[in-house]
Amino acid sequence: MTDRLYSIAIDGPAGAGKSTIARKAAQNLGFVYVDTGAIYRTLAYGIHTAGVSPESEDLQQVLSRFDVRPFWSEDGVQHMILNGEDVTALIRQPHISDLTSKLSAVAAVRDFLLETQRKIACEHSVIMDGRDIGTVVLPNADVKIFLFASAQVRAKRRYLELQQKGIDQTYEDVLREMEERDYRDSHRAVAPLVPAEDAVMIDTSDLDLNQSIETVVQTIRKKIGL
Ligand code: DC
Repeated sequence: MTDRLYSIAIDGPAGAGKSTIARKAAQNLGFVYVDTGAIYRTLAYGIHTAGVSPESEDLQQVLSRFDVRPFWSEDGVQHMILNGEDVTALIRQPHISDLTSKLSAVAAVRDFLLETQRKIACEHSVIMDGRDIGTVVLPNADVKIFLFASAQVRAKRRYLELQQKGIDQTYEDVLREMEERDYRDSHRAVAPLVPAEDAVMIDTSDLDLNQSIETVVQTIRKKIGL
């Protein structure tokens, strides 16, 4: 092993398999996996609980009330702490997904969370997944990967994931909400979801999970020579 810290950016739309693939790839490489969507979701959960609308003029002022921190348990699982409370189990609900997408289009929200994300990469070798990691958060990342898949494949994956968690939503609703979120995430004025110019593009539509992990790990190893 080396003392050098590595940073790997994995961006892409919801349901492309980013989180599972990035987590497994991080385990393989001995890096910390950072799910930045969970960081955004945690803030959204806080704002929702405080009853503040994403359009509110007070939004920027309200942000300073929230202390959002990830921590990692022994098994490498990222937990989210909001003002001292573990909210990990509460941030995946569909209404929080929707609110997160709206809030993540607000510049003040993105600015508020930028340092939280960069600080983690200064302290650990990371695989960080999100929407603007390669373009904004870690523009000097050692490797940038853009993971994508067709909307239908992604909606099916998310639908099965929700079912497993006991969250009842039809496939059609999942697909519609995913297409709406894709549109919002890639058309927002601030940090839209676009691949970095130097990103390696990986389409997971026809790859199973193990093949996707293998492709990502090999891409990283080849680039950083590990
Ligand atoms: O990856 P996810 O589905 O948990 O992300 C939730 C929302 O947060 C999604 O609509 C996009 C947004 N997001 C973002 O704008 N930037 C990030 N780095 C991560 C997530």
